[in-house]
Amino acid sequence: MIKKTFYITTPIYYPSDKLHIGHSYTTVAADAMARFKRQTGYDVHFLTGTDEHGQKIERRAQELGQEPQVFVDGIVSWIKKLWELLDISYDDFIRTTEERHKVAVQKIFQKFYEQGDIYKSKYEGWYCTPCEAFWTERQLEEGNCPDCNRPVELVAEESYFFKMSKYVDRLVDYIEKNPDFIQPASRKNEMINNFIKPGLEDLCVSRTTFRWGIPVPFDPEHVIYVWLDALTNYITALGYASSDEQQLQRYWPADVQLIGKEIVRFHTIYWPIFLMALGLDLPDKVFGHGWLLLDDGKMSKSKGNVVDPEILVERYGSDAIRYFLLREISFGADGHFSEEALVHRLNFDLANDLGNLLNRTMAMLNKYFSGRVPSPGESAPLDDELKEMASTMPAKIEALMDQLQFSSALAELWKFIARANKYIDETAPWALAKNEQQSRLQSVMYNLVESIRIVSVVLLPFMPRTPQRIWSQLGIAEQTNLHTWDSIGTFGGLPADVQTLPGEMLFPRLELSGEGGAPVRQATKKDKLTPKVKDVQKVQSEGLLSIEEFARVDLRVAQIKTAEAIAGADKLLKLMVDVGGQERQVVAGIANHYSPAELVGKHILFVANLKPAKLRGIRSDGMLLAASDDEGNLVLATTEAPIKTGSSVK
Ligand code: ME8
Ligand code: MG
Repeated sequence: MIKKTFYITTPIYYPSDKLHIGHSYTTVAADAMARFKRQTGYDVHFLTGTDEHGQKIERRAQELGQEPQVFVDGIVSWIKKLWELLDISYDDFIRTTEERHKVAVQKIFQKFYEQGDIYKSKYEGWYCTPCEAFWTERQLEEGNCPDCNRPVELVAEESYFFKMSKYVDRLVDYIEKNPDFIQPASRKNEMINNFIKPGLEDLCVSRTTFRWGIPVPFDPEHVIYVWLDALTNYITALGYASSDEQQLQRYWPADVQLIGKEIVRFHTIYWPIFLMALGLDLPDKVFGHGWLLLDDGKMSKSKGNVVDPEILVERYGSDAIRYFLLREISFGADGHFSEEALVHRLNFDLANDLGNLLNRTMAMLNKYFSGRVPSPGESAPLDDELKEMASTMPAKIEALMDQLQFSSALAELWKFIARANKYIDETAPWALAKNEQQSRLQSVMYNLVESIRIVSVVLLPFMPRTPQRIWSQLGIAEQTNLHTWDSIGTFGGLPADVQTLPGEMLFPRLELSGEGGAPVRQATKKDKLTPKVKDVQKVQSEGLLSIEEFARVDLRVAQIKTAEAIAGADKLLKLMVDVGGQERQVVAGIANHYSPAELVGKHILFVANLKPAKLRGIRSDGMLLAASDDEGNLVLATTEAPIKTGSSVK
């Protein structure tokens, strides 16, 4: 069977400086997509690389007193190391200073010239060196570059020009007939209205006032304009115009070209026109994503540690950084980056939701089955809902990934994680164990382990390391057939009798109180009993509580007067409590832990100023405090010695 191909590219990066976390955004997104497509059966080619020519690089090297080639070599090897740290699984890395690229670019330029697309003239106008972009007077914004707002330079030199006008109608036609070509749609409108409609000028495609570039083959005083040089990387890397064009045949046109929004113009106007001039097909989709911003504006390397991807990976691990980038920002929109937001995601989604699901399951499996996965026994309607979700979730994720909606895809996976956590609460395995409902307990524990396996498989493209750690704990590290996308097609692929092996917590909870804002572990291995989600949420979402804030909670000693079961709600009890002479009715989810009879008379701790709520239609006016662990044990909080009801607790 011939596999469907999938060719995905990132922009090639300027090695004019070290990269910051914003740069990693495109690459991480492309990597998640590439991994996802490989996992779902495609023959994937994932290209990234570096854009090493041009005036900006030449000047930067001069400032440092280095030969441009020596300068870029140093940064490029650093960039490759960074991609390794972030687990970027590119299939090819192209450098525009490589022979394979330079030779092909010269052939492309020659071809354009021979077919009359290029003519020699004189350029007089503005140039933004940081963007390597030409601007007309009317395009400037208050005299500055409209893209980066930095000053532009006046340039007057002999240049070759490319006849954009020759192709512009065909381009507009293509854009209109292929609504998915430029994504998101807002960027398409911007291109048409701001650049094409006002009249597309011919593009200057060579420079003579500096040397660091690929020489025009028939006029070596000129170096080829860096954007013409750079854009063609997407085909020169596939062997275009070389003696071996097999990869070009196999992968071109690209399925997805990911870029940041500021370079959409180059990729949706000039690039397609060059391709038309070469007689090649246009890419299926060019997606211009938004920017990662800091709270105080644009990201740059000069903002220091907070944006340094190496430091961030060292602090949090690459999986956590990848998860944050993909989950926090809706792909296409701008988003904010801060270490607080990162730690928040880590604590909530990874430590709580995912971590707790694994920890609770492993602990119960250990306790009830010595860690061995039981075969499923008696089933119940509750199982069906879990299984139904497990079987529909992968297809939903696939559809979202095809739209490059990474954040929504992860949200979909997390819905399932939440469902599985809720399944623990609903099935109450501890109660099944207590009541010796062995066959039912087997089903519940099997379903939980299988759900975790499904989660781990779906997680793989986003967080390539974490699933391995989960598989080790589940005892299936070597069973690669249980790691595949196909293996989660039907619920129940996990064989019974697998011996699990509890390991360390996947994601210890962090807080940002270390030196210089560095995170410190909040929980150690010993206190595996993680705090209740609600408590952590409170602290995390509002920062630490002040004494005044804490004092707003009216905590009282109360005595339970009556307790009764609630028809149709197995876990709830209706209680009447006395709080200093005042009677309060509360509904408490403790029926699996206490019988009504053993509750009557107990002195307990009570939250007296909670907003009244209705549970199963019954009014509940206050809340009992109880301690619970991640194995499902629960005990009421009581006073250490007798004291009057209504006494306040501080
Ligand atoms: O533009 N948030 O290279 P580059 C999100 N060499 N993305 C960001 C970002 C941020 N804060 N900062 C940068 C170039 N990027 C050219 C490309 S392709 C033929 C030539 C993204 O190193 C940016 O949007 O300036 C772009 O997609 C990529 O990093 C490389 O930027
Ligand atoms: Mg293809």
